[in-house]
Amino acid sequence: MPDDATNELPTTMRAAQVHALTGIDGIRLDDIAVPSPGAGEVLIRVENVGLSLADLIVAQGRYQSIPDLPFTIGMDLAGVVAAVGPGVRRTAVGDRVAATLHYGAAAEYAVAPETMTFPLPASTELAAAAAVPVNYLTAHFALHVRAQLRAGETVLVHGAAGGVGSAATQVARSLGARTIAVVSSDEKARFAEAHGADTTVRVDGFKDAVLEATDGRGVDVVVDVVGEAVILDSLRVLAPFGRHLVLGFAQGEPPSVKVNRLLLRNIDVRGVGWTGYVEADPENAWRQWDELYPMLESGGIAPAVGARYPLERIADALAEIQGRTSLGKIVLDVRG
Ligand SMILES: NC(=O)c1ccc[n+]([C@@H]2O[C@H](COP(=O)([O-])OP(=O)(O)OC[C@H]3O[C@@H](n4cnc5c(N)ncnc54)[C@H](OP(=O)(O)O)[C@@H]3O)[C@@H](O)[C@H]2O)c1
Repeated sequence: MPDDATNELPTTMRAAQVHALTGIDGIRLDDIAVPSPGAGEVLIRVENVGLSLADLIVAQGRYQSIPDLPFTIGMDLAGVVAAVGPGVRRTAVGDRVAATLHYGAAAEYAVAPETMTFPLPASTELAAAAAVPVNYLTAHFALHVRAQLRAGETVLVHGAAGGVGSAATQVARSLGARTIAVVSSDEKARFAEAHGADTTVRVDGFKDAVLEATDGRGVDVVVDVVGEAVILDSLRVLAPFGRHLVLGFAQGEPPSVKVNRLLLRNIDVRGVGWTGYVEADPENAWRQWDELYPMLESGGIAPAVGARYPLERIADALAEIQGRTSLGKIVLDVRG
Protein backbone atom coordinates (compact mmCIF):
# COMPACT_ATOMS: atom_id res chain seq x y z
CA MET A 1 0.00 0.00 0.00
CA PRO A 2 1.41 3.45 -0.83
CA ASP A 3 2.88 5.21 2.20
CA ASP A 4 3.31 8.78 1.09
CA ALA A 5 2.12 12.02 2.75
CA THR A 6 -0.07 12.98 -0.15
CA ASN A 7 -1.31 9.52 -1.19
CA GLU A 8 -3.52 6.89 0.37
CA LEU A 9 -2.68 6.21 3.98
CA PRO A 10 -1.75 2.78 5.33
CA THR A 11 -4.06 1.30 7.96
CA THR A 12 -1.35 0.12 10.36
CA MET A 13 2.01 1.50 11.48
CA ARG A 14 4.97 0.75 13.74
CA ALA A 15 4.88 2.48 17.12
CA ALA A 16 7.10 2.38 20.24
CA GLN A 17 4.60 1.53 22.95
CA VAL A 18 4.89 1.60 26.72
CA HIS A 19 3.43 -1.63 28.15
CA ALA A 20 4.65 -1.24 31.75
CA LEU A 21 5.83 1.82 33.69
CA THR A 22 9.15 0.14 34.48
CA GLY A 23 11.42 2.41 32.41
CA ILE A 24 13.18 1.40 29.22
CA ASP A 25 12.37 -2.32 29.46
CA GLY A 26 8.63 -1.57 29.45
CA ILE A 27 8.77 -0.28 25.85
CA ARG A 28 8.33 -2.41 22.74
CA LEU A 29 7.68 -1.89 19.04
CA ASP A 30 4.14 -2.86 17.96
CA ASP A 31 1.99 -2.67 14.85
CA ILE A 32 -1.05 -0.54 15.67
CA ALA A 33 -3.76 1.31 13.75
CA VAL A 34 -2.87 4.62 12.09
CA PRO A 35 -4.80 7.28 14.04
CA SER A 36 -7.22 9.77 12.46
CA PRO A 37 -7.13 13.51 13.13
CA GLY A 38 -10.15 14.96 14.97
CA ALA A 39 -11.36 18.55 14.98
CA GLY A 40 -8.44 20.98 15.18
CA GLU A 41 -5.90 18.17 14.72
CA VAL A 42 -3.45 17.17 12.02
CA LEU A 43 -2.06 13.75 11.08
CA ILE A 44 1.70 13.85 10.51
CA ARG A 45 3.77 11.32 8.60
CA VAL A 46 6.64 11.19 11.08
CA GLU A 47 10.24 11.19 9.84
CA ASN A 48 12.12 11.99 13.06
CA VAL A 49 11.45 11.96 16.79
CA GLY A 50 13.42 14.03 19.31
CA LEU A 51 13.89 12.20 22.62
CA SER A 52 14.52 13.85 25.98
CA LEU A 53 14.85 13.20 29.68
CA ALA A 54 11.11 13.82 29.98
CA ASP A 55 10.42 10.75 27.76
CA LEU A 56 12.43 8.62 30.16
CA ILE A 57 10.48 10.09 33.08
CA VAL A 58 7.23 9.17 31.25
CA ALA A 59 8.47 5.58 30.71
CA GLN A 60 9.22 5.35 34.44
CA GLY A 61 5.70 6.55 35.30
CA ARG A 62 7.06 9.64 37.08
CA TYR A 63 5.59 12.27 34.72
CA GLN A 64 2.74 14.51 35.90
CA SER A 65 0.15 12.83 33.63
CA ILE A 66 0.37 9.29 32.29
CA PRO A 67 -2.23 7.78 29.92
CA ASP A 68 -3.68 4.28 30.20
CA LEU A 69 -1.36 1.43 29.11
CA PRO A 70 -0.33 0.66 26.46
CA PHE A 71 0.44 4.03 24.88
CA THR A 72 2.90 5.33 22.30
CA ILE A 73 5.81 7.22 23.81
CA GLY A 74 7.40 10.37 22.33
CA MET A 75 6.90 14.12 22.53
CA ASP A 76 8.80 15.97 19.80
CA LEU A 77 8.60 15.04 16.13
CA ALA A 78 9.12 16.35 12.63
CA GLY A 79 7.51 15.19 9.40
CA VAL A 80 5.02 16.04 6.71
CA VAL A 81 1.31 16.69 7.18
CA ALA A 82 -0.67 13.74 5.74
CA ALA A 83 -4.24 14.78 6.63
CA VAL A 84 -6.05 17.51 8.53
CA GLY A 85 -9.20 17.40 10.67
CA PRO A 86 -12.14 19.80 10.55
CA GLY A 87 -11.41 23.38 11.67
CA VAL A 88 -7.68 23.32 10.93
CA ARG A 89 -6.78 26.87 9.94
CA ARG A 90 -3.20 27.35 8.95
CA THR A 91 -1.77 23.90 8.25
CA ALA A 92 -2.22 21.99 4.98
CA VAL A 93 -1.46 18.50 3.66
CA GLY A 94 2.15 18.40 2.42
CA ASP A 95 3.48 21.03 4.89
CA ARG A 96 6.82 20.23 6.54
CA VAL A 97 6.25 20.66 10.27
CA ALA A 98 7.57 20.06 13.76
CA ALA A 99 5.14 19.25 16.56
CA THR A 100 5.09 18.48 20.25
CA LEU A 101 2.78 16.13 22.16
CA HIS A 102 2.58 14.74 25.67
CA TYR A 103 3.01 11.27 24.12
CA GLY A 104 2.36 9.54 20.79
CA ALA A 105 5.26 10.84 18.66
CA ALA A 106 7.44 7.71 18.35
CA ALA A 107 5.48 6.10 15.52
CA GLU A 108 5.20 6.26 11.75
CA TYR A 109 2.18 8.56 12.04
CA ALA A 110 1.08 10.86 14.87
CA VAL A 111 -1.88 13.10 15.53
CA ALA A 112 -1.10 16.55 16.94
CA PRO A 113 -3.28 19.51 17.88
CA GLU A 114 -2.79 22.16 15.23
CA THR A 115 -1.82 24.62 17.98
CA MET A 116 1.19 22.39 18.77
CA THR A 117 2.17 22.02 15.08
CA PHE A 118 4.71 24.45 13.67
CA PRO A 119 5.80 25.25 10.10
CA LEU A 120 9.45 24.83 9.19
CA PRO A 121 11.76 26.96 7.06
CA ALA A 122 12.76 25.14 3.85
CA SER A 123 16.38 25.20 5.04
CA THR A 124 15.66 23.26 8.27
CA GLU A 125 16.20 19.50 7.92
CA LEU A 126 13.55 17.32 9.54
CA ALA A 127 16.11 15.59 11.80
CA ALA A 128 17.19 18.96 13.19
CA ALA A 129 13.58 20.12 13.41
CA ALA A 130 12.70 17.20 15.70
CA ALA A 131 15.14 18.69 18.24
CA VAL A 132 13.35 22.03 18.31
CA PRO A 133 9.83 22.17 19.77
CA VAL A 134 9.89 21.60 23.52
CA ASN A 135 13.47 22.67 24.10
CA TYR A 136 13.41 25.91 22.16
CA LEU A 137 9.87 26.91 23.15
CA THR A 138 10.82 26.29 26.79
CA ALA A 139 14.09 28.21 26.42
CA HIS A 140 12.29 31.11 24.74
CA PHE A 141 9.58 31.16 27.44
CA ALA A 142 12.22 31.00 30.19
CA LEU A 143 14.52 33.72 28.88
CA HIS A 144 12.20 36.06 27.03
CA VAL A 145 8.95 35.81 28.99
CA ARG A 146 10.00 34.82 32.53
CA ALA A 147 13.48 36.37 32.82
CA GLN A 148 12.81 39.29 30.46
CA LEU A 149 16.40 38.92 29.33
CA ARG A 150 18.01 42.05 27.90
CA ALA A 151 20.81 42.31 25.35
CA GLY A 152 24.16 42.63 27.08
CA GLU A 153 23.19 40.53 30.12
CA THR A 154 25.05 37.36 31.09
CA VAL A 155 23.27 33.99 31.36
CA LEU A 156 24.60 30.94 33.21
CA VAL A 157 23.19 27.69 31.75
CA HIS A 158 23.31 24.43 33.72
CA GLY A 159 23.25 21.14 31.80
CA ALA A 160 24.34 23.22 28.80
CA ALA A 161 25.25 20.24 26.62
CA GLY A 162 21.78 18.77 27.18
CA GLY A 163 18.60 19.39 25.21
CA VAL A 164 17.06 22.31 27.11
CA GLY A 165 20.51 23.65 28.05
CA SER A 166 21.81 23.81 24.48
CA ALA A 167 18.56 25.45 23.35
CA ALA A 168 18.79 28.01 26.18
CA THR A 169 22.37 28.79 25.23
CA GLN A 170 21.41 29.52 21.64
CA VAL A 171 18.25 31.47 22.45
CA ALA A 172 20.17 33.58 24.98
CA ARG A 173 22.77 34.41 22.34
CA SER A 174 20.10 35.22 19.79
CA LEU A 175 18.62 37.66 22.32
CA GLY A 176 22.01 39.36 22.61
CA ALA A 177 23.26 37.86 25.89
CA ARG A 178 26.66 36.42 26.83
CA THR A 179 26.45 32.74 27.78
CA ILE A 180 28.40 30.72 30.34
CA ALA A 181 27.80 26.97 30.01
CA VAL A 182 28.09 24.58 32.97
CA VAL A 183 29.04 21.00 31.97
CA SER A 184 30.43 17.85 33.58
CA SER A 185 33.01 16.63 31.03
CA ASP A 186 35.48 17.71 28.33
CA GLU A 187 33.26 16.19 25.65
CA LYS A 188 30.26 18.15 26.89
CA ALA A 189 32.36 21.34 27.03
CA ARG A 190 33.33 20.92 23.38
CA PHE A 191 29.71 20.23 22.46
CA ALA A 192 28.47 23.33 24.34
CA GLU A 193 31.11 25.51 22.68
CA ALA A 194 30.19 24.15 19.25
CA HIS A 195 26.56 25.06 19.96
CA GLY A 196 26.89 28.64 21.05
CA ALA A 197 28.47 28.85 24.53
CA ASP A 198 30.82 31.82 24.93
CA THR A 199 32.52 30.32 28.00
CA THR A 200 32.36 26.86 29.58
CA VAL A 201 32.95 25.96 33.22
CA ARG A 202 32.94 22.62 35.06
CA VAL A 203 30.02 21.84 37.34
CA ASP A 204 32.48 20.94 40.12
CA GLY A 205 33.61 24.30 41.49
CA PHE A 206 31.48 26.32 39.05
CA LYS A 207 30.90 29.14 41.57
CA ASP A 208 34.52 30.30 41.64
CA ALA A 209 34.94 29.79 37.89
CA VAL A 210 31.88 31.93 37.16
CA LEU A 211 33.00 34.71 39.49
CA GLU A 212 36.42 34.65 37.82
CA ALA A 213 34.88 34.73 34.32
CA THR A 214 32.72 37.74 35.27
CA ASP A 215 35.40 39.70 37.19
CA GLY A 216 33.53 39.03 40.43
CA ARG A 217 30.24 40.56 39.25
CA GLY A 218 28.30 37.33 38.69
CA VAL A 219 25.52 36.66 36.18
CA ASP A 220 22.12 38.20 35.50
CA VAL A 221 20.17 35.01 34.79
CA VAL A 222 20.64 31.33 35.70
CA VAL A 223 18.90 28.58 33.68
CA ASP A 224 18.59 25.65 36.10
CA VAL A 225 17.49 22.21 34.85
CA VAL A 226 19.46 20.38 37.55
CA GLY A 227 18.15 21.55 40.95
CA GLU A 228 19.48 20.52 44.31
CA ALA A 229 23.17 20.09 43.43
CA VAL A 230 23.55 23.57 41.95
CA ILE A 231 20.94 25.95 43.33
CA LEU A 232 22.85 27.31 46.33
CA ASP A 233 26.03 28.21 44.43
CA SER A 234 23.88 29.52 41.57
CA LEU A 235 22.21 32.01 43.93
CA ARG A 236 25.67 32.99 45.19
CA VAL A 237 26.79 33.94 41.66
CA LEU A 238 23.68 35.96 40.81
CA ALA A 239 24.37 39.68 40.46
CA PRO A 240 21.91 42.09 42.16
CA PHE A 241 18.50 41.99 40.43
CA GLY A 242 19.49 38.60 38.97
CA ARG A 243 16.88 35.95 38.14
CA HIS A 244 17.30 32.24 38.90
CA LEU A 245 15.00 30.22 36.61
CA VAL A 246 13.74 26.86 37.92
CA LEU A 247 13.10 24.58 34.91
CA GLY A 248 13.61 21.04 36.14
CA PHE A 249 15.23 18.61 38.53
CA ALA A 250 17.57 16.36 36.58
CA GLN A 251 19.32 15.56 39.86
CA GLY A 252 17.49 14.86 43.11
CA GLU A 253 14.34 16.23 44.66
CA PRO A 254 13.16 19.84 44.27
CA PRO A 255 15.38 21.89 46.61
CA SER A 256 14.41 24.46 49.26
CA VAL A 257 15.74 28.01 49.37
CA LYS A 258 16.03 30.27 52.40
CA VAL A 259 14.25 33.38 51.21
CA ASN A 260 16.53 35.72 53.21
CA ARG A 261 19.07 35.11 50.41
CA LEU A 262 16.65 36.77 47.99
CA LEU A 263 16.00 39.75 50.24
CA LEU A 264 19.63 40.41 51.13
CA ARG A 265 20.80 40.56 47.50
CA ASN A 266 17.66 41.67 45.61
CA ILE A 267 17.48 38.48 43.56
CA ASP A 268 14.54 36.40 42.33
CA VAL A 269 13.81 32.70 41.99
CA ARG A 270 11.27 32.24 39.19
CA GLY A 271 9.44 29.07 38.16
CA VAL A 272 9.31 28.19 34.47
CA GLY A 273 6.52 25.85 33.43
CA TRP A 274 6.04 25.95 29.68
CA THR A 275 3.13 23.50 29.74
CA GLY A 276 1.13 25.79 32.03
CA TYR A 277 1.92 28.73 29.75
CA VAL A 278 0.43 27.06 26.67
CA GLU A 279 -2.46 25.49 28.58
CA ALA A 280 -3.47 29.01 29.67
CA ASP A 281 -3.63 30.04 26.00
CA PRO A 282 -2.72 27.39 23.39
CA GLU A 283 -1.95 30.09 20.83
CA ASN A 284 0.97 31.24 23.03
CA ALA A 285 3.04 28.52 21.32
CA TRP A 286 2.32 29.95 17.86
CA ARG A 287 3.22 33.45 19.12
CA GLN A 288 6.53 32.05 20.35
CA TRP A 289 7.10 30.16 17.10
CA ASP A 290 6.62 33.39 15.14
CA GLU A 291 9.65 34.73 17.06
CA LEU A 292 11.70 31.52 16.82
CA TYR A 293 11.06 30.95 13.10
CA PRO A 294 13.33 33.78 11.86
CA MET A 295 16.07 32.64 14.27
CA LEU A 296 15.79 29.13 12.80
CA GLU A 297 15.70 30.42 9.24
CA SER A 298 18.77 32.63 9.73
CA GLY A 299 20.74 29.93 11.56
CA GLY A 300 20.78 32.03 14.76
CA ILE A 301 19.48 28.90 16.41
CA ALA A 302 20.87 25.62 15.06
CA PRO A 303 19.41 22.63 16.92
CA ALA A 304 21.99 20.57 18.76
CA VAL A 305 21.42 17.02 17.52
CA GLY A 306 23.53 14.42 19.31
CA ALA A 307 23.30 10.73 18.48
CA ARG A 308 20.81 9.32 15.96
CA TYR A 309 19.17 5.90 16.19
CA PRO A 310 16.56 4.03 14.14
CA LEU A 311 13.14 3.78 15.79
CA GLU A 312 13.67 0.12 16.70
CA ARG A 313 16.68 1.13 18.85
CA ILE A 314 14.70 3.51 21.06
CA ALA A 315 15.85 1.55 24.13
CA ASP A 316 19.53 2.29 23.33
CA ALA A 317 18.68 5.95 22.78
CA LEU A 318 16.92 6.26 26.14
CA ALA A 319 19.77 4.37 27.84
CA GLU A 320 22.13 7.15 26.73
CA ILE A 321 19.89 9.73 28.35
CA GLN A 322 19.60 7.59 31.48
CA GLY A 323 23.38 7.23 31.64
CA ARG A 324 23.85 11.04 31.46
CA THR A 325 26.08 10.64 28.40
CA SER A 326 23.71 12.10 25.80
CA LEU A 327 24.63 15.28 23.97
CA GLY A 328 21.99 17.76 22.84
CA LYS A 329 18.84 16.05 21.67
CA ILE A 330 18.89 12.40 20.61
CA VAL A 331 16.97 11.93 17.35
CA LEU A 332 15.23 8.78 16.08
CA ASP A 333 14.99 8.03 12.36
CA VAL A 334 11.54 6.52 12.03
CA ARG A 335 11.81 5.29 8.45
CA GLY A 336 15.25 3.72 8.39
N1 LIG B 1 10.02 23.61 32.92
C1 LIG B 1 9.72 23.27 31.70
O1 LIG B 1 8.81 23.84 31.08
C2 LIG B 1 10.50 22.15 31.07
C3 LIG B 1 10.40 21.89 29.70
C4 LIG B 1 11.19 20.88 29.16
C5 LIG B 1 12.03 20.13 29.99
N2 LIG B 1 12.07 20.40 31.32
C6 LIG B 1 12.95 19.64 32.22
O2 LIG B 1 14.29 20.04 32.02
C7 LIG B 1 15.14 19.00 32.48
C8 LIG B 1 16.25 18.74 31.48
O3 LIG B 1 15.72 18.17 30.31
P1 LIG B 1 16.65 17.88 29.05
O4 LIG B 1 15.79 17.28 28.02
O5 LIG B 1 17.47 19.06 28.75
O6 LIG B 1 17.60 16.74 29.65
P2 LIG B 1 19.06 16.29 29.16
O7 LIG B 1 19.22 16.55 27.70
O8 LIG B 1 19.25 14.91 29.67
O9 LIG B 1 20.03 17.31 29.91
C9 LIG B 1 20.04 17.40 31.32
C10 LIG B 1 21.44 17.82 31.76
O10 LIG B 1 21.42 17.92 33.18
C11 LIG B 1 22.68 17.55 33.70
N3 LIG B 1 22.53 16.63 34.85
C12 LIG B 1 22.95 16.86 36.08
N4 LIG B 1 22.67 15.85 36.89
C13 LIG B 1 22.06 14.92 36.14
C14 LIG B 1 21.56 13.63 36.41
N5 LIG B 1 21.61 13.08 37.64
N6 LIG B 1 20.99 12.95 35.38
C15 LIG B 1 20.91 13.48 34.17
N7 LIG B 1 21.39 14.71 33.85
C16 LIG B 1 21.96 15.42 34.84
C17 LIG B 1 23.47 16.88 32.58
O11 LIG B 1 24.54 17.75 32.25
P3 LIG B 1 26.00 17.54 32.89
O12 LIG B 1 26.33 16.08 32.80
O13 LIG B 1 26.87 18.38 32.01
O14 LIG B 1 25.90 18.04 34.29
C18 LIG B 1 22.52 16.81 31.40
O15 LIG B 1 23.15 17.15 30.17
C19 LIG B 1 14.25 17.78 32.73
O16 LIG B 1 14.03 17.66 34.12
C20 LIG B 1 12.96 18.14 32.01
O17 LIG B 1 11.85 17.50 32.58
C21 LIG B 1 11.33 21.39 31.85
